[in-house]
Amino acid sequence: MSNDVQEYDENLTTLLEAIWGEGFLSPGGVSEVDRYLAGINLTNKYILDIGCGLGGVDIHLTRKHKAKKVVGIDVDPYLINKCDELARKYGVSERTEFLTVEPGPLVFDDQTFDIVTSKDSIIHIPDKQSLAIDIHRILQNAGWFVASDWLAGYNDEPSLQMQEYLIAEGLDFGLASAEQYHSALESAGFVDIQITDRNEWYKKQARYERTQLSGLLYDSLATSVGKEFLEHEIDVWDKMIIALDQGQLRPTHLRARKM
Ligand SMILES: C[S@@+](CC[C@H](N)C(=O)[O-])C[C@H]1O[C@@H](n2cnc3c(N)ncnc32)[C@H](O)[C@@H]1O
Repeated sequence: MSNDVQEYDENLTTLLEAIWGEGFLSPGGVSEVDRYLAGINLTNKYILDIGCGLGGVDIHLTRKHKAKKVVGIDVDPYLINKCDELARKYGVSERTEFLTVEPGPLVFDDQTFDIVTSKDSIIHIPDKQSLAIDIHRILQNAGWFVASDWLAGYNDEPSLQMQEYLIAEGLDFGLASAEQYHSALESAGFVDIQITDRNEWYKKQARYERTQLSGLLYDSLATSVGKEFLEHEIDVWDKMIIALDQGQLRPTHLRARKM
């Protein structure tokens, strides 16, 4: 966490789970996970999840995809505790392990994992090149890196409206473009790199979420997180929708294979 400030605190996680579903701090829930993993066999695989948040992805990978074990890492011990709780609730504690880590190099030996995944968390890790090299190092030969993330639709300066969105969001983001991701993965040694843009899908989905926030979810969220915070988040959604419409913010699926 930057400067030890807890970014995903109780109010934010409560609001995001209300919109995105139990265990999720990112959009689309389990169907989006299934979409970015389509065609990859996870049965009996040893998997690392970078930025596991509340653990929704990890529970899904063990229960539906029959992973042998999922190790989830996150920089926030509050979230790691929540992951442990969710794993207990769904009876998968023995097939999951959640670890609080420091930002920086991954703390695993070479060729440890069959698959490395991440859902919408690498946006918080600005040095994509070092991360790609590290993921390549800890993957087994022929292992896959399969993820989704928030990408930038620009290579240099964001638009004014994108800047306004980033300021309103207030999270510690380090976005990169599809070209920058491709180059980081390729120079780390990955092959079969696929980058699939999800901007069109999320443009519609974000509008639905915005309607929910000021509609069906409003009263219960105003009680649980407070009206002021809720109004702030509604403003974040309005700004995000403009950034999505401009193509400046691009939810994206990524995959690449180690030879
Ligand atoms: C948008 S949330 C996504 C969480 C989860 N993957 C999901 O889809 O619900 C981003 C997560 O990345 C975590 N994070 C931020 N920097 C990180 C880092 N350097 N290493 C691991 N996790 C990090 C945050 O604490 C947060 O839980």
